[in-house]
Amino acid sequence: MAKKLFVKTYGCQMNAYDSARMADLMAPQGYTLAAAAEEADMVILNTCHIREKAAEKVYSELGRLRALKRTRRARGGDLVIAVAGCVAQAEGEEVRRRAPWVDLVVGPQAFHRLPELVAGAASGGASAIATDFPGAAKFDHLPAEATGRGPSAFLTVQEGCDKFCTFCVVPYTRGAEYSRPVAEVTTEAARLLAGGSREITLLGQNVNAYHGSGPAGRPWGLARLIRGLADLEGLTRLRYTTSHPLDMDAELIAAHAEVPALAPYLHLPVQSGSDAVLAAMGRKHRAGDYLRLVERLRAARPDLALSGDFIVGFPGESDADFAATLALVREVGYASAYSFKYSARPGTPAAELPGQLPEALKAARLAELQSLLEAQQLAFNRACEGRRLEVLLERPGRQPGQLVGRSPYMQAVHLQAPPELTGQVVNVTIERGLANSLAARLTEEPDELGADAA
Ligand code: SAH
Ligand code: SF4
Ligand code: F3S
Repeated sequence: MAKKLFVKTYGCQMNAYDSARMADLMAPQGYTLAAAAEEADMVILNTCHIREKAAEKVYSELGRLRALKRTRRARGGDLVIAVAGCVAQAEGEEVRRRAPWVDLVVGPQAFHRLPELVAGAASGGASAIATDFPGAAKFDHLPAEATGRGPSAFLTVQEGCDKFCTFCVVPYTRGAEYSRPVAEVTTEAARLLAGGSREITLLGQNVNAYHGSGPAGRPWGLARLIRGLADLEGLTRLRYTTSHPLDMDAELIAAHAEVPALAPYLHLPVQSGSDAVLAAMGRKHRAGDYLRLVERLRAARPDLALSGDFIVGFPGESDADFAATLALVREVGYASAYSFKYSARPGTPAAELPGQLPEALKAARLAELQSLLEAQQLAFNRACEGRRLEVLLERPGRQPGQLVGRSPYMQAVHLQAPPELTGQVVNVTIERGLANSLAARLTEEPDELGADAA
Protein backbone atom coordinates (compact mmCIF):
# COMPACT_ATOMS: atom_id res chain seq x y z
CA MET A 1 0.00 0.00 0.00
CA ALA A 2 1.23 3.49 -0.79
CA LYS A 3 2.55 5.27 2.27
CA LYS A 4 4.07 8.65 2.91
CA LEU A 5 7.37 9.46 4.56
CA PHE A 6 8.43 12.84 5.89
CA VAL A 7 12.11 13.36 6.71
CA LYS A 8 13.14 16.45 8.62
CA THR A 9 16.85 17.17 8.39
CA TYR A 10 18.95 19.08 10.90
CA GLY A 11 22.68 19.77 10.87
CA CYS A 12 25.25 19.35 8.15
CA GLN A 13 25.19 18.29 4.50
CA MET A 14 26.10 14.75 5.48
CA ASN A 15 22.78 14.54 7.25
CA ALA A 16 21.08 15.88 4.11
CA TYR A 17 22.77 13.12 2.11
CA ASP A 18 21.75 10.50 4.69
CA SER A 19 18.15 11.73 4.66
CA ALA A 20 17.97 11.21 0.90
CA ARG A 21 19.46 7.73 1.34
CA MET A 22 16.87 6.92 4.02
CA ALA A 23 14.15 7.80 1.54
CA ASP A 24 15.86 5.47 -0.99
CA LEU A 25 15.76 2.68 1.59
CA MET A 26 12.07 3.16 2.32
CA ALA A 27 10.99 3.48 -1.34
CA PRO A 28 10.86 -0.30 -1.96
CA GLN A 29 8.59 -0.54 1.11
CA GLY A 30 6.06 1.64 -0.69
CA TYR A 31 6.98 4.98 0.85
CA THR A 32 6.99 8.15 -1.20
CA LEU A 33 7.96 11.54 0.19
CA ALA A 34 5.47 13.82 1.93
CA ALA A 35 5.89 17.58 2.21
CA ALA A 36 4.93 17.73 5.91
CA ALA A 37 4.52 15.51 8.96
CA GLU A 38 0.74 16.05 8.85
CA GLU A 39 0.56 14.15 5.54
CA ALA A 40 2.91 11.34 6.56
CA ASP A 41 2.55 7.78 7.87
CA MET A 42 6.12 7.90 9.08
CA VAL A 43 8.36 10.75 10.22
CA ILE A 44 12.12 10.58 10.53
CA LEU A 45 13.92 13.35 12.43
CA ASN A 46 17.50 13.25 11.18
CA THR A 47 19.16 15.09 14.03
CA CYS A 48 22.28 17.08 14.85
CA HIS A 49 24.17 17.08 18.14
CA ILE A 50 26.84 19.66 17.39
CA ARG A 51 25.52 22.40 19.71
CA GLU A 52 23.08 22.24 22.60
CA LYS A 53 20.49 24.28 20.71
CA ALA A 54 20.52 21.85 17.79
CA ALA A 55 19.95 18.89 20.09
CA GLU A 56 17.17 20.59 22.08
CA LYS A 57 15.22 21.43 18.90
CA VAL A 58 14.64 17.72 18.46
CA TYR A 59 12.80 17.34 21.74
CA SER A 60 10.42 20.19 21.00
CA GLU A 61 9.70 18.70 17.59
CA LEU A 62 9.08 15.33 19.23
CA GLY A 63 6.52 17.00 21.50
CA ARG A 64 4.63 18.21 18.45
CA LEU A 65 4.78 14.77 16.83
CA ARG A 66 3.40 13.16 19.98
CA ALA A 67 0.22 15.22 19.64
CA LEU A 68 -0.03 14.25 15.98
CA LYS A 69 0.40 10.58 16.81
CA ARG A 70 -2.35 10.78 19.45
CA THR A 71 -4.80 12.33 17.03
CA ARG A 72 -4.01 9.63 14.49
CA ARG A 73 -4.52 6.85 16.99
CA ALA A 74 -7.79 8.36 18.17
CA ARG A 75 -8.94 7.99 14.56
CA GLY A 76 -7.74 4.41 14.29
CA GLY A 77 -4.58 5.27 12.37
CA ASP A 78 -0.95 5.64 13.46
CA LEU A 79 2.26 7.54 12.93
CA VAL A 80 5.66 5.86 13.04
CA ILE A 81 8.24 8.20 14.60
CA ALA A 82 11.95 7.59 14.10
CA VAL A 83 14.89 9.57 15.46
CA ALA A 84 18.02 9.23 13.34
CA GLY A 85 21.32 11.08 13.13
CA CYS A 86 23.77 12.32 15.71
CA VAL A 87 21.36 12.87 18.64
CA ALA A 88 20.20 9.28 18.17
CA GLN A 89 23.81 8.14 18.35
CA ALA A 90 24.87 10.33 21.27
CA GLU A 91 21.83 10.00 23.50
CA GLY A 92 19.57 7.26 22.17
CA GLU A 93 18.55 6.08 25.63
CA GLU A 94 17.80 9.65 26.66
CA VAL A 95 15.56 10.08 23.61
CA ARG A 96 13.64 6.98 24.60
CA ARG A 97 13.34 8.17 28.19
CA ARG A 98 12.25 11.71 27.34
CA ALA A 99 10.08 10.70 24.41
CA PRO A 100 8.81 7.13 24.93
CA TRP A 101 6.39 7.60 22.01
CA VAL A 102 9.35 7.36 19.63
CA ASP A 103 9.19 4.04 17.77
CA LEU A 104 12.80 3.74 16.76
CA VAL A 105 16.18 5.32 17.26
CA VAL A 106 18.82 4.75 14.64
CA GLY A 107 22.38 6.11 14.49
CA PRO A 108 24.21 7.46 11.41
CA GLN A 109 26.13 4.23 10.82
CA ALA A 110 23.12 1.93 11.27
CA PHE A 111 20.34 3.55 9.25
CA HIS A 112 20.57 0.92 6.50
CA ARG A 113 18.57 -1.19 8.98
CA LEU A 114 15.56 1.18 8.79
CA PRO A 115 13.26 -1.09 6.73
CA GLU A 116 13.76 -3.98 9.15
CA LEU A 117 13.28 -1.71 12.20
CA VAL A 118 10.15 -0.13 10.74
CA ALA A 119 8.70 -3.59 10.05
CA GLY A 120 9.39 -4.45 13.70
CA ALA A 121 7.67 -1.29 14.91
CA ALA A 122 4.65 -1.92 12.66
CA SER A 123 4.17 -5.42 14.08
CA GLY A 124 3.80 -3.86 17.51
CA GLY A 125 7.34 -4.51 18.70
CA ALA A 126 8.94 -2.50 21.48
CA SER A 127 10.77 0.64 20.41
CA ALA A 128 14.12 -0.27 18.91
CA ILE A 129 17.52 1.34 19.26
CA ALA A 130 20.16 0.73 16.62
CA THR A 131 23.33 2.66 17.29
CA ASP A 132 26.01 0.11 16.48
CA PHE A 133 29.06 1.24 14.52
CA PRO A 134 29.55 -1.33 11.78
CA GLY A 135 31.78 1.09 9.85
CA ALA A 136 31.81 0.15 6.20
CA ALA A 137 28.72 -2.05 6.36
CA LYS A 138 26.14 0.68 5.80
CA PHE A 139 27.14 1.67 2.29
CA ASP A 140 26.97 -1.95 1.11
CA HIS A 141 23.29 -1.99 2.02
CA LEU A 142 22.15 1.22 0.38
CA PRO A 143 20.06 0.78 -2.77
CA ALA A 144 20.42 2.98 -5.85
CA GLU A 145 18.77 6.40 -5.62
CA ALA A 146 14.99 6.07 -5.81
CA THR A 147 14.65 9.57 -7.25
CA GLY A 148 16.87 12.04 -9.12
CA ARG A 149 18.79 14.36 -6.84
CA GLY A 150 18.31 17.48 -8.91
CA PRO A 151 20.95 19.65 -10.58
CA SER A 152 23.26 19.68 -7.57
CA ALA A 153 23.84 16.44 -5.66
CA PHE A 154 25.69 15.42 -2.50
CA LEU A 155 27.87 12.34 -2.40
CA THR A 156 29.39 11.18 0.88
CA VAL A 157 32.87 9.79 0.23
CA GLN A 158 34.27 9.87 3.75
CA GLU A 159 32.69 9.58 7.16
CA GLY A 160 33.69 10.05 10.73
CA CYS A 161 36.64 11.86 12.19
CA ASP A 162 39.80 10.97 14.08
CA LYS A 163 40.80 14.56 14.86
CA PHE A 164 39.10 14.89 18.24
CA CYS A 165 39.06 18.68 18.45
CA THR A 166 38.33 19.21 22.14
CA PHE A 167 34.96 20.96 21.58
CA CYS A 168 33.48 18.57 19.04
CA VAL A 169 31.06 15.64 19.27
CA VAL A 170 31.53 14.38 15.73
CA PRO A 171 34.18 11.72 16.49
CA TYR A 172 31.73 10.27 19.02
CA THR A 173 28.56 10.52 16.93
CA ARG A 174 29.98 9.51 13.56
CA GLY A 175 32.78 7.26 14.70
CA ALA A 176 36.23 6.68 13.24
CA GLU A 177 37.30 7.94 9.84
CA TYR A 178 36.23 5.73 6.98
CA SER A 179 36.73 6.31 3.24
CA ARG A 180 34.56 4.64 0.64
CA PRO A 181 36.40 2.79 -2.13
CA VAL A 182 37.03 4.75 -5.34
CA ALA A 183 35.00 2.33 -7.50
CA GLU A 184 31.96 2.65 -5.26
CA VAL A 185 32.17 6.45 -5.30
CA THR A 186 32.61 6.51 -9.07
CA THR A 187 29.61 4.27 -9.65
CA GLU A 188 27.44 6.45 -7.45
CA ALA A 189 28.67 9.64 -9.14
CA ALA A 190 27.90 8.20 -12.57
CA ARG A 191 24.41 7.27 -11.40
CA LEU A 192 23.80 10.78 -10.06
CA LEU A 193 24.90 12.27 -13.40
CA ALA A 194 22.75 9.83 -15.34
CA GLY A 195 19.87 10.94 -13.12
CA GLY A 196 20.32 14.53 -14.29
CA SER A 197 22.70 16.04 -11.73
CA ARG A 198 25.33 18.40 -13.13
CA GLU A 199 27.17 19.34 -9.97
CA ILE A 200 28.43 16.95 -7.29
CA THR A 201 29.62 17.94 -3.85
CA LEU A 202 31.85 15.31 -2.27
CA LEU A 203 31.12 15.13 1.43
CA GLY A 204 33.00 14.09 4.52
CA GLN A 205 33.33 15.39 8.05
CA ASN A 206 36.96 15.60 7.15
CA VAL A 207 36.72 15.10 3.42
CA ASN A 208 40.30 15.98 2.55
CA ALA A 209 41.48 13.12 4.77
CA TYR A 210 39.93 10.84 2.12
CA HIS A 211 42.02 7.74 1.44
CA GLY A 212 39.68 5.28 -0.27
CA SER A 213 41.12 2.17 -1.86
CA GLY A 214 41.76 2.62 -5.57
CA PRO A 215 41.31 0.18 -8.45
CA ALA A 216 44.74 -1.39 -7.83
CA GLY A 217 44.07 -1.72 -4.12
CA ARG A 218 46.26 1.23 -3.15
CA PRO A 219 44.60 4.22 -1.51
CA TRP A 220 43.74 7.34 -3.46
CA GLY A 221 43.78 10.78 -1.86
CA LEU A 222 41.04 13.31 -2.47
CA ALA A 223 42.96 15.09 -5.24
CA ARG A 224 43.24 11.88 -7.23
CA LEU A 225 39.58 11.10 -6.67
CA ILE A 226 38.65 14.58 -7.93
CA ARG A 227 40.75 14.12 -11.07
CA GLY A 228 39.13 10.74 -11.65
CA LEU A 229 35.59 12.05 -11.27
CA ALA A 230 36.17 15.24 -13.26
CA ASP A 231 36.13 13.23 -16.51
CA LEU A 232 32.75 11.63 -15.94
CA GLU A 233 30.23 12.37 -18.65
CA GLY A 234 27.71 15.03 -17.75
CA LEU A 235 29.70 16.51 -14.88
CA THR A 236 30.02 20.28 -14.95
CA ARG A 237 31.14 21.11 -11.45
CA LEU A 238 32.76 19.44 -8.48
CA ARG A 239 32.95 20.71 -4.92
CA TYR A 240 34.07 19.13 -1.66
CA THR A 241 33.40 19.88 1.97
CA THR A 242 34.44 20.04 4.84
CA SER A 243 38.21 20.23 4.90
CA HIS A 244 40.63 20.38 7.78
CA PRO A 245 43.65 22.65 7.23
CA LEU A 246 46.06 19.86 8.26
CA ASP A 247 44.92 17.58 5.44
CA MET A 248 45.17 20.18 2.67
CA ASP A 249 48.07 18.59 0.78
CA ALA A 250 50.06 19.90 -2.20
CA GLU A 251 48.22 17.63 -4.62
CA LEU A 252 44.86 18.98 -3.56
CA ILE A 253 46.10 22.56 -3.83
CA ALA A 254 47.39 21.75 -7.33
CA ALA A 255 43.99 20.33 -8.27
CA HIS A 256 42.53 23.80 -7.72
CA ALA A 257 44.90 25.11 -10.37
CA GLU A 258 44.54 22.25 -12.83
CA VAL A 259 41.06 20.74 -12.71
CA PRO A 260 38.62 23.05 -14.53
CA ALA A 261 35.55 21.30 -13.08
CA LEU A 262 36.69 22.02 -9.53
CA ALA A 263 34.78 25.10 -8.41
CA PRO A 264 36.80 28.07 -7.11
CA TYR A 265 35.31 27.89 -3.64
CA LEU A 266 36.63 26.26 -0.51
CA HIS A 267 35.13 25.87 2.94
CA LEU A 268 38.19 25.76 5.18
CA PRO A 269 37.34 26.20 8.86
CA VAL A 270 40.00 27.71 11.13
CA GLN A 271 37.81 28.15 14.27
CA SER A 272 40.03 30.82 15.88
CA GLY A 273 42.85 33.22 15.06
CA SER A 274 44.57 32.76 18.41
CA ASP A 275 47.33 30.18 18.76
CA ALA A 276 46.57 29.70 22.45
CA VAL A 277 42.91 28.96 21.70
CA LEU A 278 43.80 26.75 18.72
CA ALA A 279 46.11 24.73 20.99
CA ALA A 280 43.39 24.38 23.63
CA MET A 281 41.00 23.31 20.89
CA GLY A 282 43.42 20.59 19.84
CA ARG A 283 43.36 21.85 16.26
CA LYS A 284 47.03 20.96 15.67
CA HIS A 285 47.61 24.00 13.46
CA ARG A 286 48.42 27.62 14.22
CA ALA A 287 46.95 30.77 12.77
CA GLY A 288 50.15 31.32 10.76
CA ASP A 289 49.92 27.83 9.23
CA TYR A 290 46.41 28.63 8.09
CA LEU A 291 47.40 31.98 6.60
CA ARG A 292 50.28 30.38 4.66
CA LEU A 293 47.91 27.69 3.42
CA VAL A 294 45.49 30.36 2.19
CA GLU A 295 48.38 32.03 0.38
CA ARG A 296 49.32 28.79 -1.39
CA LEU A 297 45.71 28.14 -2.35
CA ARG A 298 45.35 31.63 -3.77
CA ALA A 299 48.59 31.25 -5.67
CA ALA A 300 47.10 28.11 -7.26
CA ARG A 301 43.68 29.64 -7.89
CA PRO A 302 43.73 33.45 -7.57
CA ASP A 303 39.95 33.83 -7.61
CA LEU A 304 39.35 31.17 -4.94
CA ALA A 305 36.49 32.22 -2.66
CA LEU A 306 37.05 31.17 0.93
CA SER A 307 34.57 30.25 3.57
CA GLY A 308 35.17 29.23 7.17
CA ASP A 309 33.78 28.25 10.54
CA PHE A 310 34.50 30.16 13.74
CA ILE A 311 33.81 29.46 17.38
CA VAL A 312 33.81 32.43 19.77
CA GLY A 313 33.88 32.20 23.54
CA PHE A 314 35.89 29.00 23.78
CA PRO A 315 36.87 28.40 27.46
CA GLY A 316 39.65 30.79 28.44
CA GLU A 317 39.34 32.97 25.30
CA SER A 318 40.64 36.43 26.28
CA ASP A 319 39.94 39.79 24.65
CA ALA A 320 43.34 39.50 22.97
CA ASP A 321 42.52 35.98 21.69
CA PHE A 322 39.27 37.26 20.23
CA ALA A 323 41.06 40.24 18.69
CA ALA A 324 43.40 37.74 16.99
CA THR A 325 40.38 36.06 15.40
CA LEU A 326 39.15 39.40 14.06
CA ALA A 327 42.65 40.12 12.74
CA LEU A 328 42.80 36.76 10.95
CA VAL A 329 39.40 37.38 9.38
CA ARG A 330 40.55 40.81 8.16
CA GLU A 331 43.69 39.28 6.69
CA VAL A 332 41.94 36.43 4.86
CA GLY A 333 38.83 38.20 3.60
CA TYR A 334 36.03 35.63 3.50
CA ALA A 335 33.37 35.31 0.81
CA SER A 336 31.08 33.69 3.37
CA ALA A 337 31.42 32.13 6.81
CA TYR A 338 29.63 30.43 9.67
CA SER A 339 30.24 31.50 13.24
CA PHE A 340 28.99 30.08 16.50
CA LYS A 341 29.04 30.67 20.23
CA TYR A 342 30.96 27.91 21.93
CA SER A 343 28.54 25.32 23.28
CA ALA A 344 29.84 22.95 25.96
CA ARG A 345 29.04 19.40 24.85
CA PRO A 346 28.80 16.62 27.42
CA GLY A 347 31.64 14.14 27.12
CA THR A 348 34.01 16.44 25.22
CA PRO A 349 37.26 17.56 26.92
CA ALA A 350 36.59 21.29 26.46
CA ALA A 351 33.40 21.04 28.51
CA GLU A 352 35.62 20.28 31.53
CA LEU A 353 38.06 23.15 30.98
CA PRO A 354 38.24 26.04 33.44
CA GLY A 355 37.41 29.53 32.16
CA GLN A 356 33.94 28.79 30.70
CA LEU A 357 32.72 32.21 29.58
CA PRO A 358 29.42 33.92 30.35
CA GLU A 359 26.72 33.82 27.71
CA ALA A 360 26.58 37.62 27.39
CA LEU A 361 30.28 37.85 26.53
CA LYS A 362 29.96 35.09 23.95
CA ALA A 363 26.96 36.85 22.43
CA ALA A 364 28.79 40.20 22.23
CA ARG A 365 31.82 38.61 20.56
CA LEU A 366 29.64 36.70 18.12
CA ALA A 367 27.82 39.90 17.13
CA GLU A 368 31.12 41.70 16.52
CA LEU A 369 32.57 38.85 14.47
CA GLN A 370 29.40 38.42 12.46
CA SER A 371 29.19 42.08 11.55
CA LEU A 372 32.74 41.87 10.19
CA LEU A 373 31.99 38.65 8.28
CA GLU A 374 28.75 40.09 6.90
CA ALA A 375 30.58 43.17 5.69
CA GLN A 376 33.14 40.95 3.95
CA GLN A 377 30.43 38.89 2.32
CA LEU A 378 28.64 42.00 1.07
CA ALA A 379 31.93 43.40 -0.26
CA PHE A 380 32.60 40.12 -2.07
CA ASN A 381 29.10 40.09 -3.57
CA ARG A 382 29.35 43.75 -4.63
CA ALA A 383 32.70 43.09 -6.28
CA CYS A 384 30.86 40.66 -8.56
CA GLU A 385 28.63 43.41 -9.99
CA GLY A 386 29.11 43.67 -13.74
CA ARG A 387 30.89 40.32 -13.96
CA ARG A 388 29.78 37.53 -16.25
CA LEU A 389 29.47 34.25 -14.35
CA GLU A 390 28.28 30.73 -15.03
CA VAL A 391 25.31 29.77 -12.92
CA LEU A 392 23.83 26.32 -12.46
CA LEU A 393 20.10 26.92 -12.23
CA GLU A 394 18.60 24.75 -9.51
CA ARG A 395 15.00 25.69 -8.77
CA PRO A 396 12.24 28.29 -9.00
CA GLY A 397 12.81 31.51 -7.07
CA ARG A 398 10.36 33.41 -4.89
CA GLN A 399 9.24 35.85 -7.57
CA PRO A 400 7.18 34.71 -10.55
CA GLY A 401 9.36 33.84 -13.55
CA GLN A 402 12.45 33.63 -11.39
CA LEU A 403 15.01 30.84 -11.16
CA VAL A 404 17.70 30.46 -8.50
CA GLY A 405 21.07 28.82 -8.83
CA ARG A 406 24.64 29.05 -7.63
CA SER A 407 27.65 30.88 -8.95
CA PRO A 408 31.02 29.10 -9.10
CA TYR A 409 31.77 30.91 -5.81
CA MET A 410 28.73 29.33 -4.17
CA GLN A 411 26.67 32.52 -4.07
CA ALA A 412 22.93 32.17 -4.56
CA VAL A 413 22.01 33.91 -7.83
CA HIS A 414 18.48 34.82 -8.85
CA LEU A 415 17.32 35.90 -12.29
CA GLN A 416 14.38 35.90 -14.66
CA ALA A 417 14.63 32.78 -16.81
CA PRO A 418 12.28 30.26 -18.42
CA PRO A 419 11.63 27.20 -16.18
CA GLU A 420 13.01 24.80 -18.81
CA LEU A 421 16.48 26.16 -18.05
CA THR A 422 16.38 24.49 -14.61
CA GLY A 423 19.30 22.11 -14.36
CA GLN A 424 21.35 23.98 -16.96
CA VAL A 425 24.48 26.06 -16.63
CA VAL A 426 23.84 29.53 -18.07
CA ASN A 427 25.89 32.66 -18.53
CA VAL A 428 24.64 35.61 -16.57
CA THR A 429 25.70 39.16 -15.89
CA ILE A 430 25.60 40.17 -12.23
CA GLU A 431 23.50 43.28 -11.76
CA ARG A 432 23.56 43.63 -7.99
CA GLY A 433 25.50 42.14 -5.11
CA LEU A 434 23.25 41.83 -2.05
CA ALA A 435 23.89 40.65 1.51
CA ASN A 436 23.10 37.00 0.82
CA SER A 437 22.68 36.69 -2.92
CA LEU A 438 23.31 38.14 -6.36
CA ALA A 439 20.71 39.54 -8.73
CA ALA A 440 21.53 38.75 -12.37
CA ARG A 441 20.24 38.65 -15.92
CA LEU A 442 20.78 36.07 -18.65
CA THR A 443 23.41 37.27 -21.09
CA GLU A 444 22.97 34.75 -23.85
CA GLU A 445 20.90 31.72 -24.58
CA PRO A 446 22.91 28.61 -23.75
CA ASP A 447 23.46 26.10 -26.57
CA GLU A 448 21.30 23.53 -24.84
CA LEU A 449 18.16 25.63 -25.25
CA GLY A 450 16.06 24.16 -28.00
CA ALA A 451 17.73 20.78 -28.24
CA ASP A 452 17.24 19.73 -24.62
CA ALA A 453 14.49 22.09 -23.59
CA ALA A 454 11.84 19.37 -23.63
N1 SAH B 1 34.56 18.81 10.25
C1 SAH B 1 34.43 20.17 10.20
C2 SAH B 1 33.21 20.76 10.88
C3 SAH B 1 32.41 19.98 11.86
S1 SAH B 1 31.13 20.74 12.73
C4 SAH B 1 35.71 20.81 10.68
O1 SAH B 1 36.60 20.17 11.14
O2 SAH B 1 35.85 22.01 10.60
C5 SAH B 1 30.80 22.27 11.99
C6 SAH B 1 31.23 23.44 12.81
O3 SAH B 1 30.49 23.54 14.00
C7 SAH B 1 32.65 23.42 13.26
O4 SAH B 1 33.53 23.80 12.25
C8 SAH B 1 32.64 24.37 14.41
O5 SAH B 1 32.87 25.69 14.00
C9 SAH B 1 31.22 24.26 14.94
N2 SAH B 1 31.20 23.55 16.22
C10 SAH B 1 31.57 22.28 16.47
N3 SAH B 1 31.45 22.00 17.78
C11 SAH B 1 31.01 23.13 18.38
C12 SAH B 1 30.70 23.49 19.73
N4 SAH B 1 30.86 22.63 20.72
N5 SAH B 1 30.26 24.75 19.97
C13 SAH B 1 30.11 25.63 18.96
N6 SAH B 1 30.40 25.36 17.68
C14 SAH B 1 30.83 24.12 17.38
FE1 SF4 C 1 34.97 17.99 14.78
FE2 SF4 C 1 37.51 18.69 14.62
FE3 SF4 C 1 36.67 16.45 13.46
FE4 SF4 C 1 35.96 18.79 12.47
S1 SF4 C 1 38.05 18.00 12.58
S2 SF4 C 1 34.64 17.03 12.80
S3 SF4 C 1 35.73 20.05 14.28
S4 SF4 C 1 36.72 16.86 15.65
FE1 F3S D 1 25.54 17.70 13.37
FE2 F3S D 1 26.22 15.20 13.21
FE3 F3S D 1 26.57 16.78 11.14
S1 F3S D 1 26.45 16.47 14.96
S2 F3S D 1 26.97 18.73 12.09
S3 F3S D 1 24.66 16.23 12.01
S4 F3S D 1 27.89 15.13 11.79
